[in-house]
Amino acid sequence: MCGIVGYIGPKPVVPVILEGLRRLEYRGYDSAGIALAGSASGLTVHRASGKLRNLEALVADKPMAGNYGIGHTRWATHGRPTEENAHPHRDCTGSLVVVHNGIVENYLALKKELVAVGHIFVTETDTEIIAHLIEQEFLDAKSVEQLSLEEAVRRSVRKLKGAFAIGVLSADDPSKLVAARSGPPAVIGFGKDEYFLASDIPGILHHTRDIVYLQDGDIAVLTTSGVVFTDFDGNTISRLPQHIQWDPIQAEKEGYRHFMLKEIHEQPRAIRDTMLGRVSLTTGKVELPDLKLTVDELRRAQRVAIASCGTSWHAGLAAKFMIERLARLPVEVDYASEFRYRDPILGATDMGLLISQSGETADTIAAQLEMISKSTPTLAICNVVGAAITRKAFGTITTNAGPEIGVASTKAFTAQLTALFILALYLAQCRDTITQEESLKLVTELDKLPAKAREVLRSTAPVCQELAKIFSNARDFLFLGRGIHYPIALEGALKLKEISYIHAEGYPAGEMKHGPNALIDENLPVVCIATRDENNPDSVLKYEKTLSNLQEVTARNGRVIAIACEGDTEISRLVEHTIYIPSAPELLLPILEVIPLQLLAYSIAVERGCDVDQPRNLAKSVTVE
Ligand code: F6R
Repeated sequence: MCGIVGYIGPKPVVPVILEGLRRLEYRGYDSAGIALAGSASGLTVHRASGKLRNLEALVADKPMAGNYGIGHTRWATHGRPTEENAHPHRDCTGSLVVVHNGIVENYLALKKELVAVGHIFVTETDTEIIAHLIEQEFLDAKSVEQLSLEEAVRRSVRKLKGAFAIGVLSADDPSKLVAARSGPPAVIGFGKDEYFLASDIPGILHHTRDIVYLQDGDIAVLTTSGVVFTDFDGNTISRLPQHIQWDPIQAEKEGYRHFMLKEIHEQPRAIRDTMLGRVSLTTGKVELPDLKLTVDELRRAQRVAIASCGTSWHAGLAAKFMIERLARLPVEVDYASEFRYRDPILGATDMGLLISQSGETADTIAAQLEMISKSTPTLAICNVVGAAITRKAFGTITTNAGPEIGVASTKAFTAQLTALFILALYLAQCRDTITQEESLKLVTELDKLPAKAREVLRSTAPVCQELAKIFSNARDFLFLGRGIHYPIALEGALKLKEISYIHAEGYPAGEMKHGPNALIDENLPVVCIATRDENNPDSVLKYEKTLSNLQEVTARNGRVIAIACEGDTEISRLVEHTIYIPSAPELLLPILEVIPLQLLAYSIAVERGCDVDQPRNLAKSVTVE
């Protein structure tokens, strides 16, 4: 969740690093720091707590000398977000520095050993241990051999337990950056006579698109003449750069006030790109070659076990309805963070499904390892090509939402729902639980979604702005839904709480009478998803029951905002506010329903003056458990 940028090459190093950090700030932003080497004055380190602009001001005030270096933005895990705890961290001599993303689990035991041999620690972090470990390797080797920085790093990382992506430089072994990965992501960028290290691609994409993703157990040594890759034992390995298609402009705000708003508006494209090449509009047939499981294997599957976190977990809950309805295959959905702790009953005929925007969420990876340990083949739905869960998965469906910068997930969610719908349809086709005619009908409806999503954006954005003015001072919100619409209610509540800091809860509409009705009064806004698919009697029945629940709310003076389908005049007579969306087959409605909920949360957060793209206490990618 922290951001790392390193650079070695002919350009002035400070702007390269600071600009890269700015583009990675979404990964963590409670403090930042930079270290430069290569000047006569040795190694210089500047650090500042708070936003990156504090570090920028410091660097402007006290210019730094050096021609290569590393920088870091931190999201605290061990130690408070202070200047002292900001990276880079030094060894005792101050001639070696380390930046780190992840957690060193055995740092206390290592610290004890190092303190016993005279090391002095000045921070509360787990990271500082790494600098001292490397220093100790040099000390241990001194009388016996001449150690290179990379060899000292290799020997040190073998002693670490936990998750780490690190960057190291030393004034004693100059013109060299060393990186190592075991867990959190790290990439190496190749420019013309220049090389980059970053924790994520947007940090260096404005310089190069030729990227190597470091694998777990890789060490990279960057010098002005190239990059050498080895494993932790020093064996040379080959890592060839891939050319990344992402346009740097894609990772910018493109004129929107916030990344989140831009990403909300990118959803029609994200849905379209996730469908592209996977469904035939003439036959209705789905093709998912990257799934790698054979039709026979999919036919034999007894059950699907889904594990994911946060917004991706909501996508998993919706997927249960899609897969069970279309493929008649039982589905269980777990919080990935809880999965391991219930000793799940799984086997080789089950199918594990991990859903993750980043593909680097530690809890989701842990759930995946649990599945693999029980011989369950795992599939990944992921937005980042080459991310950790995709490398461990048997097969993958990439959600082609493009880079998501806003901490609150939006376009990645609708892309996940799209991918999951396609997967459900594919499973149904493999298992003969759907006719070709039904498939073609659904694919035709799916194809209409990008245009419908565009229409939802156009028509509901102004309504949400107005509603935000009315409700931005509310203390609590309730979000209701039934069936597949319940996960969307949960997602609406999550979006609101994470960016506006208003307490919000999602509830199944039918559960209100079992307790939450007690909360209702004239101060409680209740957002209710009351859509219906007129061609589906089950959907109409659910809608009618939801209307009855709403009557219970309005009878107690609750203030209802309903999400309903165009043409529904019955609901607007019952409730105070209605947001209309186009109708669609029930399993596709969630993709449209969530858009006004995202816009409502966004508008309320803006109205309250919140930092929409970087909400407090949150990070984009949660790479620790
Ligand atoms: C909420 C949000 C988080 C993530 C969760 C899982 O807006 O973004 O709840 O959904 O941290 O992240 P991924 O999908 O990257 O595994």
